[in-house]
Amino acid sequence: MKFQNAYGYFSDDGKEYVITSPLTPRPWGNIMSNGDFGMMISQTGSGYSWRGNAGQNRLTRSFQDLIKDNWGKYFYIRDLQRNIFWSATYKPVMLPYQHFSVVHGIGYSKFTQEYQEIESELTVFVAASDPVEVFRLKLTNHSTEARELDITSYAEWLLGFAPDEHREFHKLFIETSAGVAQNAVYARKCLWGFADEKGRHNNIDWPYTAFMAVSEPLKSFDCDKETFIGLYHNDDQPRAMIEPKLSGHSGRFTDAIAALQVQVNLEPGQSKTVVFSLGAAEDGKEEVAELISRYTGLHQCEQALQEVNAFWSRFIDSEKVETPDDAFNFMTNTWLKYQAISCRLWGKSAFYQVSAGIGFRDQLQDSQIFLISEPDYARKQLLLHAAHQFIEGDVFHWWFSIRGGGPRTNCSDDLLWLPFILDAYLKETGDFSILDEAIPYLNGPAESFYAHCKRAIERSFSRFSPRGIPLMGDHDWNDGLSAVGTLMRGESFWVGEFLYMILGTFIPLARMRGETGFAERCEIVRQSLKDAVNRHGWDGEWYLQATTDDGLLLGSKENSEGQIFLMPNNWAVISGLADGERAQKAMNSVTKYLFKDYGTLLNFPAFTKPRSDIGYVTRYTPGLRENGGVYTHAATWSIWAYTLVGEPELAYEAFRRICPPNRSQDIETYKAEPYVTPGNVDGPVSEYYGRGGWTWYTGSSQWLHRVATHWILGIRPQTDGLLVDPSIPAYWPGFKVTRKFRNATYKIEVKNPQRINRGINSITIDGKSLEGELIPVFNDGQVHDVQVIMGKPE
Ligand code: GLC
Repeated sequence: MKFQNAYGYFSDDGKEYVITSPLTPRPWGNIMSNGDFGMMISQTGSGYSWRGNAGQNRLTRSFQDLIKDNWGKYFYIRDLQRNIFWSATYKPVMLPYQHFSVVHGIGYSKFTQEYQEIESELTVFVAASDPVEVFRLKLTNHSTEARELDITSYAEWLLGFAPDEHREFHKLFIETSAGVAQNAVYARKCLWGFADEKGRHNNIDWPYTAFMAVSEPLKSFDCDKETFIGLYHNDDQPRAMIEPKLSGHSGRFTDAIAALQVQVNLEPGQSKTVVFSLGAAEDGKEEVAELISRYTGLHQCEQALQEVNAFWSRFIDSEKVETPDDAFNFMTNTWLKYQAISCRLWGKSAFYQVSAGIGFRDQLQDSQIFLISEPDYARKQLLLHAAHQFIEGDVFHWWFSIRGGGPRTNCSDDLLWLPFILDAYLKETGDFSILDEAIPYLNGPAESFYAHCKRAIERSFSRFSPRGIPLMGDHDWNDGLSAVGTLMRGESFWVGEFLYMILGTFIPLARMRGETGFAERCEIVRQSLKDAVNRHGWDGEWYLQATTDDGLLLGSKENSEGQIFLMPNNWAVISGLADGERAQKAMNSVTKYLFKDYGTLLNFPAFTKPRSDIGYVTRYTPGLRENGGVYTHAATWSIWAYTLVGEPELAYEAFRRICPPNRSQDIETYKAEPYVTPGNVDGPVSEYYGRGGWTWYTGSSQWLHRVATHWILGIRPQTDGLLVDPSIPAYWPGFKVTRKFRNATYKIEVKNPQRINRGINSITIDGKSLEGELIPVFNDGQVHDVQVIMGKPE
């Protein structure tokens, strides 16, 4: 048991989180996705399923409600002799179960309860490579008498765009049916919210068959909410539980649900397992009957669960760190990767945000999580984003993952993430062939990936203020600065720094490709950016965030609110645009004004009144989200910046304070899951200072992983090798990292005999001492032993 609190703990290896009470201070969930099909489930058993994404193709109905958390796919267990029923999860029946535990793991969740001397263990997972989720329910009779039970499943179909606000309308297009031979019910819908090929709305089919099936012969079924729940009843007291059997209704005239009932008789001490499956087969692509038979049985379920484990292992296990800090290890090794992949990149859905789209900058950043384990996925993501660029160089701010389409905006940073993430990709993989991949523009013919990046940079060059600072446009990384520069006069100093950094890595690529003219142009712009940001963007003690269209300063000591912003100060350092003294000063100001108990705030003081010349950041409740809260995504960059100014202890402290397991100790304040990052933590002016929110669906997970491994442990791939440059707390006696790099495994052991923060004394590789700084690229499929001794260089 690690990081125990009143509601749960981590397993000793950190790979599972065990919840011991259903009444966690917020829903504590799991988001499982295989890249196509996904489900969300909370500790109460509530949640929903989708295919593709949960906005355009929701399968089961639910409404965002973190207080009631009351929509789910539920399993009722009924004792036919004792005449009593309960549910296999806390919801919907909510009885005081004798035993209760929920284990959230990588790709599965397991709900164990005991009631009326019947133990139930419900294991839930999404198949590794099919649009199916599986529920394995094992019942054990701990009493001394034979028991006659039945199990009844229940889910409400939505089938398409969520929410289906006008559901009395949508209801009219669904048809349900039963396949008694397959112990299944099906649902189809002859309407999907897209236009047909002639642009006519409400004129195409939903091209799937949804199903729910069970491994046992059906006792009865129902596809009608009215007969199942009963008019004016709730799902905690459905009529179905007072009727001997389900009604057997289906067809076109009901409010569509899926409910299956099977009988389970148990002798004393006996156990029995029943498997349910739920999925959606695409017309012409998958066969419902085949999907059902592939998963809906004991043996099939065991095998499918093993496939899920193997599937996730590919993404999780090619890098392992061992440090003296369990929170660091648990998050870095397991949860941050899982969160970034299962939820952010694939699921695109969570309690606090259901997204139907792919954010241009967001998922590009997230895709860095693939770099060590499955770099090809990162490559595909880069190419995918390039395909969502216009020939003018700008990009969709986000686009729908089903059938595309999205907003074309004047956002000033989106497009630049393409060359930024490219650099990370090249350093990790050395795969320069990506530069020649031909990708079409949204409105133009194919060009090389290199040309895509170049057009992004050139587009940015076309949007500078007269004094040489990039324009803010519709906003920069901080979406909430939504009114600062829409007239194309306001400036973003942060974009200046970001572009400065990107040019630093892009110029060598331009030269490599013989583009001398462009490289020289970039050099000139880069130098001028450095001069201009340092001249106009320095406020005396820190860097300004922006100027508005009206020429007002943002993030200045002259302001009463929003005096200092985190972003331009972190990135002045990260980008290398600030020289030594200013870099130090900027970070000192970050420490002084922004570094609080739970991490670094995004700005200070929070805005208390809406400002129509700044944007919606000022309209948030003070202390929340981008308005003076800890915005975890950006707070991870403070860790990076602290390492660069030679403040390893502060870097580690900035990490520790936002590393979720550490909040187990004040969980009543924190409220959120301790095993995934929150998007934000309330800042000091909030009545709930320290409360975590917006968990799972946040870009902070990938970044926390990256800063921990690259900047605290300091293991950083370079084009020609691996750099080891730790910035660790001095009390650490050392740490180990095993990771893949190109085609070899590096077992790195760092020893810190003098208990210092930084500095390498010696490195030996496979017993030979290393000449130079970089651990070479072996590319030989072998395991290499790297011994690093910290200390003053000899
Ligand atoms: C949200 C957006 C992200 C943006 C951030 C800061 O997380 O998804 O793109 O950078 O907010 O505003």
